Amino acid sequence: MSNQFDVIVIGAGPGGYIAAIRAAQLGFKVACIDEWKNSKGGPAPGGTCTNVGCIPSKALLQSSEHYDQAAHHFADHGITVEGLKMDVSKMVARKDTVVKQNNDGILYLFKKNKVSFFHGRGSFVKAADGAYEVAVSGDKPETLSAKHIVVATGSSARQLPGAAFDEKLILSNEGALAVTEAPKKLGVIGSGVIGLEMGSVWRRLGAEVTVLEALPTFLAAVDEQVAKEAQKLFVKQGLKLELGVKIGEVKAGKKGVTVSYANAKGEEQKLEVDKLIVSIGRVPNTHGLNAEAVGLKLDERGAIVVDDDCKTNLPNVWAVGDVVRGPMLAHKAEEEGVAVAERIAGQHGHVDFNLIPWVIYTNPEIAWVGKTEQALKAEGRAYKAGSFPFIANGRARALGDTTGFVKFLADASTDEILGVHIIGPFASELIAEACVAMAFKASAEDIARICHAHPSLSESTKEAALAVDKRTLNF
Ligand code: FAD
Ligand code: NAI
Repeated sequence: MSNQFDVIVIGAGPGGYIAAIRAAQLGFKVACIDEWKNSKGGPAPGGTCTNVGCIPSKALLQSSEHYDQAAHHFADHGITVEGLKMDVSKMVARKDTVVKQNNDGILYLFKKNKVSFFHGRGSFVKAADGAYEVAVSGDKPETLSAKHIVVATGSSARQLPGAAFDEKLILSNEGALAVTEAPKKLGVIGSGVIGLEMGSVWRRLGAEVTVLEALPTFLAAVDEQVAKEAQKLFVKQGLKLELGVKIGEVKAGKKGVTVSYANAKGEEQKLEVDKLIVSIGRVPNTHGLNAEAVGLKLDERGAIVVDDDCKTNLPNVWAVGDVVRGPMLAHKAEEEGVAVAERIAGQHGHVDFNLIPWVIYTNPEIAWVGKTEQALKAEGRAYKAGSFPFIANGRARALGDTTGFVKFLADASTDEILGVHIIGPFASELIAEACVAMAFKASAEDIARICHAHPSLSESTKEAALAVDKRTLNF
């Protein structure tokens, strides 16, 4: 039967489409089902990441950064710009083109790897004869079956009770990426990754941005020294940040939104804004799966319960990415997708959860991998720290971007690198060296002894490694 496959992947985000490609590379007959529609109703594989996440947010961050540079920093290079203007609709149209290029790229990769793509919602029908039946609803309903199922259905923005997303005034990530005119006043609830990235875009384009955060600590999961530096810099850039708030009523009117909240001192406050982004985390997508039909186990958050190998409670049913435990990151989803495909093939797929890098694409960028200093202290682990500021790096000075530093944390006795934390220019790229080093269990001295090109930002990484042994050369 043509609708019989070895592997069916439900969801074509970074977890699903990569799992499908890897399984096809390993010789399996693979189907991948995804329901995302583009503006014309056609398929738009790539999931949250491609359509309303990583890719479009980075496109808008790049455009707004160019504008900010032209408005505030070109003059330092002797460049005068007269009549500088920002066409926000064009910026958004460019972002849409970038998204489409990525959608098309994935459809091409499916063809190249002979993955059969089905556009529609995939849901379990039943388990029978050592296989699972999965229905595809959509324009062309069908029923597929396979021995192995990989669920990669991702996540959606969490709603604040009493503040439903209308995507016009109260925005999730979807609405925040589709605004066609910079709001005068923008409110953001939640100072996490989305709040800071999207807040940056609209602040650079002229919005007065106020961020309201429930926790008393800014970026609590980030290394404390980095978080403190980031808070100082973001506030200096004009971001209004209130920590330790308790959100009350959120009221959308004809023209704007009023947020009532209690500040850290317990005083009642009102924030009036043109638009409000609510970025308070994400919830796993399991509602459309008909998980009950086969007895697939979910936890109290609705996430699919898996073990370290992404195995669910059902034989040959796997789950990866945002729909399971762990950080909600595209590269984490991809790594799990590859590992699952390899496990299905009887190989030893492997994901090291301690080596998943994080990047926040603000300016300055923030990137880290491994343990924070506060986590090492809490564990009682003896460590050495060394850091190097970009102000002492020649390339950073030539770039005109000397904010921030690179910080290494290494084991006090073995010198093994335990964590690397960067705030500053191209932190997103620099962190890769730390990931490679840590994957090979390198010591700080190993990095310190490697020749790094001059002048380059990566010399700061080498210098921070030297700083662990208190022997920086340029600071
Ligand atoms: P998703 O990408 O959510 O894909 C799941 C897919 O499954 C979707 O297409 C969905 O429509 C489909 N689906 C769901 N249910 C069904 C069903 N029953 N049948 C058929 N299809 C179904 N991560 C980073 O690493 N770097 C970043 O810079 C970054 N930026 C982000 C910016 C924003 C604004 C947001 C919101 C997220 C960002 N993320 C980033 C997180 C990243 O997008 C997610 O971690 C990643 O997309 C998870 O991949 P996934 O494959 O698990 O799920
Ligand atoms: P988040 O988890 O990063 O941050 C949510 C913030 O909202 C937290 O600081 C939390 O304390 C706060 N919060 C929660 N409830 C609140 C309330 N009632 N009132 C006020 N504050 C409240 O979640 P976010 O920003 O929605 O992003 C979701 C996920 O998407 C991220 O955790 C990340 O995994 C992924 N992402 C990754 C990016 C990247 O890698 N660069 C970019 C954007 C998103």
